[in-house]
Amino acid sequence: MALLLRNVELDDVDSYVAMRCDPTMMAELGGPIPREGIEAKVSRDVEAASTDTSWILMIIPDDGEPKTVAGSVVLWSHEENGETISEIGWMVLPQFQGQGLGKASVTELLRRARADGRWGTVHAFPGVNNVASNGICRSLGFRLLGEEDIDFADRTLRSNHWALDLASPPADNQSNS
Ligand SMILES: CC(C)(COP(=O)(O)OP(=O)(O)OC[C@H]1O[C@@H](n2cnc3c(N)ncnc32)[C@H](O)[C@@H]1OP(=O)(O)O)[C@@H](O)C(=O)NCCC(=O)NCCS
Repeated sequence: MALLLRNVELDDVDSYVAMRCDPTMMAELGGPIPREGIEAKVSRDVEAASTDTSWILMIIPDDGEPKTVAGSVVLWSHEENGETISEIGWMVLPQFQGQGLGKASVTELLRRARADGRWGTVHAFPGVNNVASNGICRSLGFRLLGEEDIDFADRTLRSNHWALDLASPPADNQSNS
């Protein structure tokens, strides 16, 4: 699956709205978030991406228009129970789903993270009923640590907790993607 990943830009407001304010896209993430905070969220993300503290990347299908955004894949670190952890998240817009773009984008981000060396163990928290996201974790070699309640955009979600130690070799189906 050919794709490009580029840093989020201020122009990406419409893509953020399509990903975060749509009931279908947000069905497994507790429902859509309010439209009015999106410009501020994009600005914060552009700032974080520009200082390289978080990787906030837009997925561009390689065979499409350069302006076409199919989704996003994100890697950042934050405090969890007094510890700093690295977390990964992803979204693919409905018209691009089911074509392998989500898995290919996560594979590429993990490849970059391995090469970078700073991220340690990467955690993912897909909703327990999110079949595609749990499939991505399973097939890319994440270990399932169990279920837990997590806070996301001011709501609580029942999630699976997956973890991948980047020092371990990539899953077979990851190294040749
Ligand atoms: C989850 C999401 C990112 C998946 O992206 P995608 O590009 O459609 O996924 P892929 O085509 O790369 O498929 C990934 C895996 O899930 C499976 N899959 C994809 N869609 C599926 C579906 N609807 N039902 C069952 N399995 C599915 C694929 O077969 C593949 O598994 P495999 O590697 O074993 O073959 C996308 O559906 C999405 O953004 N959904 C809404 C937002 C969301 O839930 N974000 C994730 C929060 S953790």
